[in-house]
Amino acid sequence: PRVAVLISGGGSNMVKLLDSMAADHPAEPVLVLANSADAGGLAKAKAHGVQSDFVDHKPYGADREAFEDALIAKLDTAKADVICLAGFMRVLTPHFIDRYEGRMLNIHPSLLPKYKGLHTHARAITAGDTEAGCTVHEVTAKLDDGPILLQARVPIRLDDTPDTLAARVLKQEHRIYPQALRQFIRKL
Ligand code: GRF
Repeated sequence: PRVAVLISGGGSNMVKLLDSMAADHPAEPVLVLANSADAGGLAKAKAHGVQSDFVDHKPYGADREAFEDALIAKLDTAKADVICLAGFMRVLTPHFIDRYEGRMLNIHPSLLPKYKGLHTHARAITAGDTEAGCTVHEVTAKLDDGPILLQARVPIRLDDTPDTLAARVLKQEHRIYPQALRQFIRKL
């Protein structure tokens, strides 16, 4: 299958997915697509020899579907048939999701179903949780809610800040996302 990875920022998860597909994978990375020109991951994609592009979401304002149509046009040109959201920070509407449901994954930095949405690490610390983690799930119209493929747990230490916890969780994201994508593709 032809895999597209959607990013918003540095793309550290995207890099791990590209490395995994370059190594031992029936999947081919065909596009790294960002929602802004200055997503740091775009340069990393280029360095990995993978086609990269962006659609700036800002000119579309509140017209989410028009923004999504621009994304879809790029994905169609690349003939992508699996979508990996990796640090992609825009909420996607059913307009986009209906088109890719069953072929789209996301990595979320919490042990879903706990802490859907943002600021997951601060929320887990504030709640006094003793562990946190990350989840790879299929994307459905309900935010951070689709079928779970893989999770990883990490301890929360008493002196943790959201940043120290985020760094610990991110290492596990990098481990489970490539594993989850491999599993997912085998079942397509
Ligand atoms: C990180 O907060 C990660 O937990 C979440 O998206 C953010 C950026 O990830 N998945 P990346 O480095 O852009 O992959």
